[in-house]
Amino acid sequence: MRLSSATLCLVTFIVFSLLQTPAFAAKRSYVVYLGGHSHGTETESHYDFLGSFLGSHEHAREAMFYSYTRHINGFAANLDDEVAAEIARHPKVVSVFLNKGRKLHTTRSWEFLGLEQNGFVASNSIWNKTRYGEDTIIGNLDTGVWPESKSFSDDAYGPIPSKWKGICQNHKDAGFHCNRKLIGARYFNKGYSAAVGKLNSSFDTPRDKEGHGTHTLSTAGGNMVAKASVFGFGKGTAKGGSPRARVAAYKVCWPPVLGNECFDADILAAFDVAIHDGVDVLSVSLGGEPTVFFNDSVAIGS
Ligand SMILES: *[C@@H]1O[C@H](CO)[C@@H](O)[C@H](O)[C@H]1NC(C)=O
Ligand SMILES: *[C@@H]1O[C@H](CO)[C@@H](O)[C@H](O)[C@H]1NC(C)=O
Ligand SMILES: *[C@@H]1O[C@H](CO)[C@@H](O)[C@H](O)[C@H]1NC(C)=O
Repeated sequence: MRLSSATLCLVTFIVFSLLQTPAFAAKRSYVVYLGGHSHGTETESHYDFLGSFLGSHEHAREAMFYSYTRHINGFAANLDDEVAAEIARHPKVVSVFLNKGRKLHTTRSWEFLGLEQNGFVASNSIWNKTRYGEDTIIGNLDTGVWPESKSFSDDAYGPIPSKWKGICQNHKDAGFHCNRKLIGARYFNKGYSAAVGKLNSSFDTPRDKEGHGTHTLSTAGGNMVAKASVFGFGKGTAKGGSPRARVAAYKVCWPPVLGNECFDADILAAFDVAIHDGVDVLSVSLGGEPTVFFNDSVAIGS
């Protein structure tokens, strides 16, 4: 076969472009995982470590957008692929992986688990034996929460459990309120912004504008709400698996881009902070393509 000169020209151009790529390569966002529990890790030491690859502390500060220091030891940063590969070879590093997107998942049914039958709770139901999850603190990594939902009303709830250290991150959304049932809410979008582009500041709130997070959080720990229905369909009592639990929302999912909405760097940040806040249980209803555990933010966080 003979190649036409046009084809040769194209091939030459592609080869040339490939050779040139590193010079123009856009940085991509990566998670650098340095291992398990390392209480007392300082962000400074992450700057020092990354700085040793980037040439200076200042470059490290510029590149890094999360430093995980509480229960997870690692950081997230915008890096050239070559630098990411170099970091991955360092003996202190467990894994380096791209800050990839994930999709929302869902699940259902207390009846399936035998907790109730036709809306009736038997006295030997595990629900009764466990006092409906009273004062267990459930955190949820999802699209946030709609705090006005009756599933999160704090009528008939006592004081917030004293071990709780979380916050209601509503300083940019004065209309968002927590209470003695919904005891905390935070949002994490630096990983999304690094991978997809900066979010409009109207998104600086844990409010759920999508619905999935309110659905999954109420499924995990929502109050019993009688006479619930959707436009008349599915009438009944809405309730969570632990209806007397306290709940906290960690918003890590944002408007979908190519079907992905929750990014690894944000997911890890939320795990790290939620454990510190004092959640007893985390509900995570999202996922992506299966990968090795050490390249998987959900596996590391869990
Ligand atoms: C983990 O992620 C890195 C960075 O993207 C990649 O080079 C490596 O192949 C991945 N490991 C596996 C086993 O998929
Ligand atoms: C819950 O269990 C207790 C004993 O463990 C029983 O006395 C009570 O009737 C049960 N309540 C319901 C609503 O079944
Ligand atoms: C942010 O989004 C809201 C709602 O879509 C829009 O009204 C507002 O103009 C946007 N703000 C900026 C700064 O783009």
